[in-house]
Amino acid sequence: MENQCIKWGIIGTGRIAHTFATALQVVTNSELAAVGSRDMEKATQFASEFQIPKAYGSYEDLMKDPEVDVVYIATPHNLHETNTLLALNHHKHVLCEKPMGVNLQESTRMIEKAKTENLFLMEALWSRFLPNIIKTKEIVTSGEIGEVKLMTVFFSLRSKNGPEHRHFNIDLCGGSILDIGIYNIFLSLFLLGKPQQFTAIAGLSEQGGDNSSSYTFRYNNDTLSVMYSSFMGESPIVAEIHGTKGKVTLEHLWFCPGKVKVNYLDGRENIFEFNVKSNGYEYEAEEVATCILAGKTQSDLWSWSDSKQLMSMMDAIRKECGITYPAHDK
Ligand SMILES: NC(=O)c1ccc[n+]([C@@H]2O[C@H](COP(=O)([O-])OP(=O)(O)OC[C@H]3O[C@@H](n4cnc5c(N)ncnc54)[C@H](OP(=O)(O)O)[C@@H]3O)[C@@H](O)[C@H]2O)c1
Repeated sequence: MENQCIKWGIIGTGRIAHTFATALQVVTNSELAAVGSRDMEKATQFASEFQIPKAYGSYEDLMKDPEVDVVYIATPHNLHETNTLLALNHHKHVLCEKPMGVNLQESTRMIEKAKTENLFLMEALWSRFLPNIIKTKEIVTSGEIGEVKLMTVFFSLRSKNGPEHRHFNIDLCGGSILDIGIYNIFLSLFLLGKPQQFTAIAGLSEQGGDNSSSYTFRYNNDTLSVMYSSFMGESPIVAEIHGTKGKVTLEHLWFCPGKVKVNYLDGRENIFEFNVKSNGYEYEAEEVATCILAGKTQSDLWSWSDSKQLMSMMDAIRKECGITYPAHDK
């Protein structure tokens, strides 16, 4: 790439687009060049909020902009595949919000297209890049807390949104598993790998999506990772990893930047804290820019196979719970 600064375009002007645009301000090798919305007025307003030079009234118009190197896809899950393929067809690199499509067929098609076009593609699994999550992985892998015997990973909030909102709307592939449960499942896979066995059960909405779900992974016969996700109630969003010599605690909002607390069975305690430049989304953005500038098509830290493994697990859990997205699960 001739210039050493990656030019970003964002499509979708909702909640996460605002958060990501805020983080991009501190990313050195990146510049926010354009925003696209279904609605020109929203695009113009977003552009003025973040001093973005160009605003487009359709996603396709943004894709046609020759100055845009990479498109950040911040639309609802059901559009991730369509929007990613649109970007790749216009020869843009892509950072696609999680999940990467809504099932393994979609993830695979997205990845195959990126491969064919020789373009970068990554799922925006931002927690993977946070220093507290990386530290936790280091501690667990080093054996410092002994052999892991139990993980408890929770993510529950009370969604005030109505049935039409993407949290619940089955046409937008609503439900807790793909939206927030994805973080729990990611953490188990990241720290312990693929389970030997799992169980899952969901409380379904009238539309057939999951309002609440619980799922437990079993490893090596005696190690469990117990998880739940829900839009039905506020409860501590914590993760604890219990080993034979101690435990690691990621406190409330564990998937965000935060502290890592290690308590050893002999009474010692270690607390790790980290300085974060913005809201934490800058880490994934930095990884994307660095990979693109290095001519890579995927990240070693969150690879295509990582996204596929995560999606396969979510497919299996949805199947066990009887959740289908009629327009997507063929
Ligand atoms: N990484 C994270 O921490 C995180 C956090 C929240 C969400 N997310 C992910 O980001 C995606 C978007 O979530 P969000 O919370 O930003 O959603 P949101 O606030 O509803 O925004 C989504 C945007 O997508 C566009 N859109 C296109 N078709 C739409 C449709 N049929 N209905 C609604 N919006 C539509 C809209 O932008 P225009 O009208 O401008 O086109 C809308 O503002 C989801 O896939 C979610 O998983 C990630």
